[in-house]
Amino acid sequence: MPQTLVLRRPDDWHIHLRDGAALLSLVPAAARQFARAIVMPNLRPPVTTVQAALAYRNAIMAAVPAGMAFEPLMTLYLTDNTSADEVARAAASDHVHGIKYYPAGATTNSESGVTRIERASAALEAMERHGLPLLMHGEVTDPAIDIFDRERVFLDTVLEPLRRRFPSLRIVLEHITTAEAAAFVTEATGPVAATLTAQHLLLNRNAIFDGGIRPHAYCLPVLKRESHRQALLAAATSGNPRFFLGTDSAPHTRANKESGCGHAGVYSAHAAIELYAEAFEAAGALDRLEAFASLNGPRFYGLAANEGQVTLERLDWTVPASYPMGDDTVVPLRAGHTLHWRLV
Ligand code: NCD
Ligand code: ZN
Repeated sequence: MPQTLVLRRPDDWHIHLRDGAALLSLVPAAARQFARAIVMPNLRPPVTTVQAALAYRNAIMAAVPAGMAFEPLMTLYLTDNTSADEVARAAASDHVHGIKYYPAGATTNSESGVTRIERASAALEAMERHGLPLLMHGEVTDPAIDIFDRERVFLDTVLEPLRRRFPSLRIVLEHITTAEAAAFVTEATGPVAATLTAQHLLLNRNAIFDGGIRPHAYCLPVLKRESHRQALLAAATSGNPRFFLGTDSAPHTRANKESGCGHAGVYSAHAAIELYAEAFEAAGALDRLEAFASLNGPRFYGLAANEGQVTLERLDWTVPASYPMGDDTVVPLRAGHTLHWRLV
C-alpha cells in the first residue's frame, strides 16, 4: 500500500464559493486544495454579465489568504435574455471560461435560469462560434417526472436535440449522477465532457435515509441507486479524458440544511481531494487520480495543467463536526467520520 501520493496540483471544475462574509471561509478552503476553480454564478442576483463576473472575481481574490495562489475561473449565468454580444464579451475576457445553464427552478437560485432552451438560441449560437463552453445542470424540471429520473430524461429531451442543433458547441455535463449520463458522454461524437462529484462517487441514495433523514447528504442532482454509483466510479477511473473533477461543493448554513425544507447542496471543499482519493483507492485506481484531478479538466478548457505538486499522506483523521461559514456554520461531507488520506 502506498503511503504517499504525489499529484500535479489539481483544479476544481465546479464549485460554489457564495458571496459576502462566507467568502472569507470558503475561498481559503478551496485555495488550500486547488490552484484554480470554475466558480458557479448562482448568486442573488445571478452573475449574468462579464462586468458582474469581474466584480465577483475581485471579491474572491480579496478573500485569498496572503501567500496562497488561487485563480477563480469565472462563469456567467445563462438566461432567456443573454445576448450574443454578452457572449462575445465573455469569450474575449481572460477571466470568463464558460456559461452556466440552469433550467429555471431546477436548483438553488435557479429562478432566473432558462425557461425553454430555444429561448437561449442566440447565446448558444454565439457560444458555439466563439468556442465558449456551456456548463449544464442536466435535469428536467417537469414536476411530473420522478426526481430520480430527471437527469436521464434530460439526456433524451434536451441534450440530444441540443447536440444536433449545435454539434460544435463545447458542453460540460455537470455533476453527472447516472449510468445513462456516463454512457452518453462516453459515446458522444463531439466536444462533450462531464464533471463528477466526490459524493456521487462515494455514496448512493441510501445515505439520505440512513437511520433517519439526513439533510447533509441531500444535493441536486440527488444521489442515485448503487448501480449508478458504480457506473460513475467506472467512468471516473476509466482514464477517459472526458471525465474530470468538479466537486459541486455547495455549502449552506446548518440552519438552512436542518429545516422543514432543507436546501440542496453538499459541502466537500474541506477534504475534496482526500475524498476523491478514497473513491479511487476503493476502485483500485489511485494511479488514475492525477489525470482526473489535474490533467483532463485543463485539457478540455484549453488551459495548461498547473505547475507544482501536492502530496497526500496515508493518515487517519477525523472530519470536524462543522466549519465556520461567515457568521454561521456548515456541516461538511463525512462530518465526524475518519478519512484515510490527508493533504499535506
Ligand atoms: C447547488 C447550490 O447550492 O448552489 N446545490 C446543489 O445541490 N448542487 C446548486 C447546484 O449546483 O445544483
Ligand atoms: Zn453546482
